[in-house]
Amino acid sequence: MKAIDLSVNFAGVTLKNPVVTVSGTCGFGEEYAPFYKPSELGAIAVKGMTLAPRLGNPPPRIAETPAGILNSIGLQNPGVDAFVENELPRLKAEGACVIANISGSTIADYCKVAEILSETDVDFIEMNISCPNVKEGGVAFGTNAKTVNEITSEVKKHTNKPLIVKLSPNVTDITEMARAAEAGGANALSLINTLLGMRIDLKTRRPILHNNVGGLSGPAVFPVAVRMVWQVRNAVSLPLLGMGGIASAEDAIEMLIAGADAIGVGTAMFANPNLPMEIADGIAKYMEANSIEHVADISATVQPW
Ligand SMILES: Cc1cc2nc3c(=O)[nH]c(=O)nc-3n(C[C@H](O)[C@H](O)[C@H](O)COP(=O)(O)O)c2cc1C
Repeated sequence: MKAIDLSVNFAGVTLKNPVVTVSGTCGFGEEYAPFYKPSELGAIAVKGMTLAPRLGNPPPRIAETPAGILNSIGLQNPGVDAFVENELPRLKAEGACVIANISGSTIADYCKVAEILSETDVDFIEMNISCPNVKEGGVAFGTNAKTVNEITSEVKKHTNKPLIVKLSPNVTDITEMARAAEAGGANALSLINTLLGMRIDLKTRRPILHNNVGGLSGPAVFPVAVRMVWQVRNAVSLPLLGMGGIASAEDAIEMLIAGADAIGVGTAMFANPNLPMEIADGIAKYMEANSIEHVADISATVQPW
């Protein structure tokens, strides 16, 4: 057998392996520097950016749950200009493939941020229309097929970068949103964002999160994410970045089999910062053991009953 090839072609861009660290869980890459270089990843999806800097929601904004966390960070970020000036040059100098995650309060905001990033050397724009933690976090755009289509086609007019549309799981039928994004001109989809949840303190009877509700992520959401990736794989022909609860190489391989072309790791890195590299190694070992040369040969291989 020829040497195994971990690279994947994702919407026309070659990722050296299928492992991506997901937006909001890896900042701009610096916190993980003691563990791996961002250039060792398939790509790094940086924290969601808005036109102006944002402080995010007041604390408490993280609550623990069995097998996951609830967060209501609320899109804290330094603003797109600060990213372009202070973070992007370092990431590109290190050789990283960069997915710039964007948010906004209006379609015009999204278009402006996309325009600014199009003048830079980011590799992808990932449009977050699924943040459940701020009123204007885009989830209002992401839960209605008509607006998914509209915002996708508008943002497409303002960028020459491959556009990944990040879907919300907080919908009745995610395939409807996937089709709307595809019809709007999306180059790829990423899924899932967090699932809306809530915890309450027994002593105070107040919600644990100051924002009352937050987004659930981590291993608890994994089966939901696998189900949604599989459904979306059967609904559209766009490349898929599958994420949600991946905590091991086995989970990552399962997500590929469900239909993902590349996979994202987030919350589970908080417990094991080496996880992305362990997953890349684990996928390579699985390929060796099963005589698979290309990652693409694992993707979307669910067998019927
Ligand atoms: C603390 C935190 C912050 C997040 N911030 C963003 C964000 O800014 N933009 C975005 O699109 N998704 C954001 N997400 C969602 C993740 O990118 C991902 O879709 C979700 O957490 C599921 O993956 P996981 O279970 O592996 O963490 C955030 C998640 C967490 C836990």
